[in-house]
Amino acid sequence: MTQFTIAQNQNGTRKVVRGIEITYEDVGSGPSVVLLHGYPFNRSMWADQMAELKKHHRVIVPDLRGHGGSAVSQAASMQSMATDVASLLETLNISRATIGGLSMGGYVALAFYRLFPLRVRSLVLADTRAQADTDDGKQNREQQAEKALREGMEGIADGLLPKLLAPETVTKHPEIVKRLRGMMAETNPEGAAAALRGMAGRQDQTSFLSRIIAPTLILVGSEDAITPVADSELMHREIGGSRLKIIEGAGHVSNLERPEEFNAALVKFLNDVEV
Ligand code: MLT
Repeated sequence: MTQFTIAQNQNGTRKVVRGIEITYEDVGSGPSVVLLHGYPFNRSMWADQMAELKKHHRVIVPDLRGHGGSAVSQAASMQSMATDVASLLETLNISRATIGGLSMGGYVALAFYRLFPLRVRSLVLADTRAQADTDDGKQNREQQAEKALREGMEGIADGLLPKLLAPETVTKHPEIVKRLRGMMAETNPEGAAAALRGMAGRQDQTSFLSRIIAPTLILVGSEDAITPVADSELMHREIGGSRLKIIEGAGHVSNLERPEEFNAALVKFLNDVEV
């Protein structure tokens, strides 16, 4: 049976959806935009985007189950996270929204579209991919999950950090390194392990891409070492009418590394799809 425990409390609004407490922020007014964070981060990674978008949009930024201030569940498939988000939107009376996600958040956004296509006004897929994990990738996830449970998040952060950021970000922006490390350290190891197992079990969405009819923006850092540009190019080829923005000099966390370029592309896309 799935067991739930409550993760460390943090600021933000908490609501019980589908029997789990989900922490989220809901700011601004206008067309709704939902932003889903990557692994093993939390909603605070979207602070720069919230500040910009809330001028003309209602921005909903949840902590996905197992992360930030949301409850930890031993089961955290991409579909279950997507369904949490759909239920949260129902409780907020939002019937349609732009659904955006970075990396794991992108896997959840794709799962959301597949489950609830009519609730998606447009899609934003940042530093993510449609392919499922390879067998080696799945094995590595399981090793990481066991390591997180055994040793906590410090070692996970040490292993991940060098892959997350472009070399220039690491040398010129120690504050970004610190921010990411802080988010990872705050993540509950049980939540991280559940997310790793959820990602390992995720569906391959490659053959589904051509069925996406929502306007789609794909963003990727030119230096992304985890979900490289080629993965975004594949999504761009397959999703009819999609737009691809390569953010020069950014790594895997392009919204944090190059917030101005990321926001400019996002705002332009939202303005274009909302006319
Ligand atoms: C993320 O940033 O969410 C993860 O790196 C995604 C992944 O490991 O596939």
